[in-house]
Amino acid sequence: MKERLEKLLTEALSELGGADAVDAALRLKVKYLGKKGEIAVFLSGLRNIADAERKAAGSLINKVKEDLEREVDKRIDAIKQREKAESLATERLDVTLPGRRFSAGRLHPVTQVAAEIEDIFHGLGFAVAEGPEVELDYYNFEALNIPKDHPARDMQDTFYVSEDVMLRTHTSPVQIRVMEKHNPPLRVIAPGTVYRRDSDITHTPMFHQVEGFMVDERVSFADLKGVLTSFLQQLFGKDTPTRFRPSFFPFTEPSAEVDIRCVICSGKGCRVCKASGWLEILGAGMIHPNVFKSAGYDSEKYSGFAFGAGIERIAMLKFGIDDLRLFFENDLRFLRQF
Ligand code: PHE
Repeated sequence: MKERLEKLLTEALSELGGADAVDAALRLKVKYLGKKGEIAVFLSGLRNIADAERKAAGSLINKVKEDLEREVDKRIDAIKQREKAESLATERLDVTLPGRRFSAGRLHPVTQVAAEIEDIFHGLGFAVAEGPEVELDYYNFEALNIPKDHPARDMQDTFYVSEDVMLRTHTSPVQIRVMEKHNPPLRVIAPGTVYRRDSDITHTPMFHQVEGFMVDERVSFADLKGVLTSFLQQLFGKDTPTRFRPSFFPFTEPSAEVDIRCVICSGKGCRVCKASGWLEILGAGMIHPNVFKSAGYDSEKYSGFAFGAGIERIAMLKFGIDDLRLFFENDLRFLRQF
């Protein structure tokens, strides 16, 4: 038995010498020292040994077992040491490298300008309202005193879903929706998306407007001028000159278009203002009695003004952007500048 044990030990040690990975060494540990391993076979053989020799045989087996255990553990340690040394030599960690930043999202310039407009009107006591983008003919046209033969109703200009349903062409229908639900006094703005069948350098089929209106007893054109002048000067700078020109909208009477002094050339005349020195920035007017009638308001008792402005146009002038289409191409090199 002694020779067989010694032979086993020599064999095991030479196999162990050839193991150069931790799992190979562990497999040998199972093979020799495991519950069903070679040493276990010797131990169970003890029962066939004469009583007198059993004790000596047992301690011999145990000694081999302990030697082997020590050798396996030594081997595993050595392998781990070598692997660590190797990885230290080949892998380098440059702690002076700058970290990788999370790229934070940001607001689209149109959203930023809309938020700024909301802020300014908030300061003037206006609340914010919203209306649907898919709108009924009644709210988009009929209730706003836009007659059946008005060119804005043309298939050429409006995206129709059906005869009475369309994508709203302006934010003015929100005037009617708010007035149907609330009584004066009202001070409301309604920013939102609008759609027109238009596509060239200065028109996109989808764009954004902000509507605003104020209704109370004795609201006058002076209120319109005061509120819109204050708004435009907060938006473009407090010394920005404004100009109110007579105009026409079916839902306001009288109507005006409002200009600001050209922000590019300060009035000297340039390509952007078409040499006029002025930029048209919004449409406005005193709410037409027929609009009040649609909303069920008494136009003898109440008066009010309304206005509408294009948000992209304002953003272009504020940020000096010369192509409307840039807003909708989602080019991050463009969007990251705001
Ligand atoms: N709805 C008009 C447009 O889209 C703007 C406007 C709104 C004019 C309110 C007057 C009053 O051009």
